[in-house]
Amino acid sequence: MDIIGIGYLGFETTKVDEWRDYGPQVMGFQVGQSPASDPDSLYFRTDDRRHRFAFHPGKIDRLAYIGWEAKGKIEFEAAIARFQEHGVEITMGDAALCEQRGVKGVFRFRDPVGYQHEMFHGQKWMPRSFTPGRPHGGFVAGVRGLGHLVVITPQWPPELQDFFVKLMGFHYYGPGAGKGQTAFYRSKLNSYTSHDIAYGYGPGKMGVQHVGLFVKSLRDVGETYDIVKQRGIPMMMTLGQHSQDPHASFYHFSPGGFALETITELEPWHDDGFELNPEKLSTWGHEVVGPILGPSVRTPEELLEPELLAKYKQG
Ligand SMILES: [Fe+2]
Repeated sequence: MDIIGIGYLGFETTKVDEWRDYGPQVMGFQVGQSPASDPDSLYFRTDDRRHRFAFHPGKIDRLAYIGWEAKGKIEFEAAIARFQEHGVEITMGDAALCEQRGVKGVFRFRDPVGYQHEMFHGQKWMPRSFTPGRPHGGFVAGVRGLGHLVVITPQWPPELQDFFVKLMGFHYYGPGAGKGQTAFYRSKLNSYTSHDIAYGYGPGKMGVQHVGLFVKSLRDVGETYDIVKQRGIPMMMTLGQHSQDPHASFYHFSPGGFALETITELEPWHDDGFELNPEKLSTWGHEVVGPILGPSVRTPEELLEPELLAKYKQG
């Protein structure tokens, strides 16, 4: 499938007011216009797209949906046909959902472990319209998408890999350097970064481990780092450089209980000619100073509705 990357992420949150301060003031996000049909939700922009993050008021803090961007209408329709041929249950979004997401077309589906995904094409955009919430050099999003996402899965069925690689045409990047069972994938059209999504196996656990966002300069990593320290926001890992990517980054905990990794590219990412199996996670830094799984990682019983729990538990 001709997928660019993650176009947007949606969350449910109990902390809309906290996010409204934190998003612009810590991360430099722009508060976007909430759609008329969804006035209570908080929308953030990180580039010239209408939005990249949506925070919908809810009973708990959890990931609500992962929005994959098809390259365009033709590729979007081809993806629908492919899912249907392979018996994947999809739900077409109506005009109201398209309006809320700011897209031309959208459908919804679940992966083999129960996470809610969407695929869309044609998100609203205006060139040079992004204004950061605080002085900030800007995010690298645009043609490569929002950034990357790492989620924990309570099951590790072979269908999960088949779903991404064989059905959706993702590239398997490898297991990463973590100690546990992890798999990293990047979408077919992503030639900019090593991964769009990773699943980490955590029996009895589910939820977002972290979201990685690329900023345009090391200065923006450093200034975000200072603001996080000044505000006393808990960190997961200090500044460092991963073995498998030529990037510098640090991780701190967002109001949603998951970590945000603020990343700058020290060199362009190179295509991997072999499966990378690093001796250690990072070449320098990245001292682990907080939990690797934050409070956003909960049990499937807390995160999935009962009917979904019954459907996805047996795997
Ligand atoms: Fe990351």
